[in-house]
Amino acid sequence: MSKLAIIGGTGLLSLEGLEIREQRVVSTPFGNASNDLIVGEFHGKSVIFLPRHGQYHSIPPHKINYRANIWALYEQGVEKIVAVAAVGGIRSDLAPGVLAVPDQIIDYTYGREQSFYSDDFSVENHIDFSYPYDEHLRQIIIQAAKNTGLAVVNGGTYGATQGPRLETAAEIKRMAQDGCAMVGMTGMPEAALARELNMAYATCALMVNWAAGISDGVITMDQIEHTLAGGMQQVRQLLADFIQTQ
Ligand code: HPA
Repeated sequence: MSKLAIIGGTGLLSLEGLEIREQRVVSTPFGNASNDLIVGEFHGKSVIFLPRHGQYHSIPPHKINYRANIWALYEQGVEKIVAVAAVGGIRSDLAPGVLAVPDQIIDYTYGREQSFYSDDFSVENHIDFSYPYDEHLRQIIIQAAKNTGLAVVNGGTYGATQGPRLETAAEIKRMAQDGCAMVGMTGMPEAALARELNMAYATCALMVNWAAGISDGVITMDQIEHTLAGGMQQVRQLLADFIQTQ
């Protein structure tokens, strides 16, 4: 059994049902993680939980210390990461409330530390990233969703934007032309950093709004929060089933 971590995003700042055994303070060569690592048992299985925006959601996507977060988990012996993310739907089947397990990424972020080896790079530090998510982990998440009776979309390209603002309608139109199915702000460099350390990584993405310009009108936080509340309850159910396979 390999050690599992769940990285929670917006709407999943704590993992209801997690019996906390310890809050582990960690410091890494790359600085501090977003929060203490929350070590516990979730439905009888060991897990480490880390809220990527911090406990109070005070760290915006472009300020997250992704390297410290992934390194902190690595140092604890974590080999598998399920990343939970709230995203905007671009493709027509990805309406608010739908869950998806993306299979590709396009990275539109900038100015984020992309590698553990930035300051001491050598040629072997180039990672293969053709398929950014761990396929086995993806399939287990999809199966867990099905077991739980949740509708889940297998695949789709996750477009990672810089944030913290939402996109313009023209940006989303371009992303749709590029082939993006959904848009979020935290998928990169998180996925690439996990790959650098050979950790299996997959994302469970909850659509919380239509991306900019896809539906009429503007995107309101009320709308997003409403979808988040119900949707993250579904994600918890999925995780409860998922963890039984671990
Ligand atoms: N864009 C980027 N990130 C997001 C969105 C969005 O529309 N919704 C939730 N996270």
